[in-house]
Amino acid sequence: MNAPTARENLQGIDLLAEIARLKKERNAVILAHYYQKPEIQDLADFVGDSLELSKRAAETDADVIAFCGVKFMAETAKILSPQKTVILPDMAAGCSLEDACPPGKFKAFRAAHPDHIALTYINCSAEVKALSDIIVTSSSAETILSQIPPEQKIIFGPDRHLGGYLSRKFNREMLLWPGVCIVHEAFSETELLKLKAQYPGVPVAAHPECPPHIIDHSDYVGSTSGILQYAQTMEGDTLIVATEPHIIHQMEKAEPTKAFIGAPGADGNCACNICPYMALNTMEKLYLALRDLQPQIELDENVRLAAKKSLDRMLEMAGGTLGKGDLGRA
Ligand code: 13P
Ligand code: SF4
Repeated sequence: MNAPTARENLQGIDLLAEIARLKKERNAVILAHYYQKPEIQDLADFVGDSLELSKRAAETDADVIAFCGVKFMAETAKILSPQKTVILPDMAAGCSLEDACPPGKFKAFRAAHPDHIALTYINCSAEVKALSDIIVTSSSAETILSQIPPEQKIIFGPDRHLGGYLSRKFNREMLLWPGVCIVHEAFSETELLKLKAQYPGVPVAAHPECPPHIIDHSDYVGSTSGILQYAQTMEGDTLIVATEPHIIHQMEKAEPTKAFIGAPGADGNCACNICPYMALNTMEKLYLALRDLQPQIELDENVRLAAKKSLDRMLEMAGGTLGKGDLGRA
């Protein structure tokens, strides 16, 4: 683990140059989620949503995957590419949805509902993936759900808001696991309505992890990449963004003449919509991780193989793989 070295004095080190040098030396690829700090997004080989990042991880020719995201994303990379070294700058970068779904409880819940299949959001541990039938991400969930016969009973976990959104949209009952994302849960309906009154006619784009009282005031609901695309294709020049605000960095790069306003939390200007787990990754920790090849993701092989089945099912059903080694800059 790199915890002791994280206290090293790194002053005077040109982190950008060192990361570039180590990346070459290690034959590493740097994958980053849209919720990472701008400086990490800017040095990554690829920035994307969960589905895109898992496809990139499955197809890269690199020997090392430096995953700038959270643990379930880095685990997904290891499940799909076991021969590669997968490093996560801070192993404490978890997710409230993963925490809300302990494998033992999930297993018992499944056993109590033997006639249900488990359609599970990718924001969960490798163990929970191993106990599931099909994994979904926010950008693949609708395509996948539409392929499941209507009479098939479904357990959807661990995000009850994404599950509830799908359930309403498809008019389909599902048994929902009671997990939430602490970041999307923190948006305030009262403050959003005040903001909408201040900017009449300005659309709202929301992630489906938001609770229904935010979704109900939104003009577009989709994954991070979907929201980014909406920001680029919408007609107006201003957008209220109800997801983690670091994605605004990509919007401003793509559309420098448009204005993007982060949806507010309860007191109007708290930082409660910044994902505290994503924020653990820093340039310093990325440098140390590339230098020491630590912390590394390690998985039990039986868990990995079982989890791979449910992930492969997603990749098949979501369709369209990316070109091998086709790593583009975001
Ligand atoms: P996306 O798959 O839309 O990028 O979502 C990942 C996530 O963790 C959102 O909170
Ligand atoms: Fe998990 Fe929410 Fe952070 Fe996404 S934003 S990683 S769902 S805590």
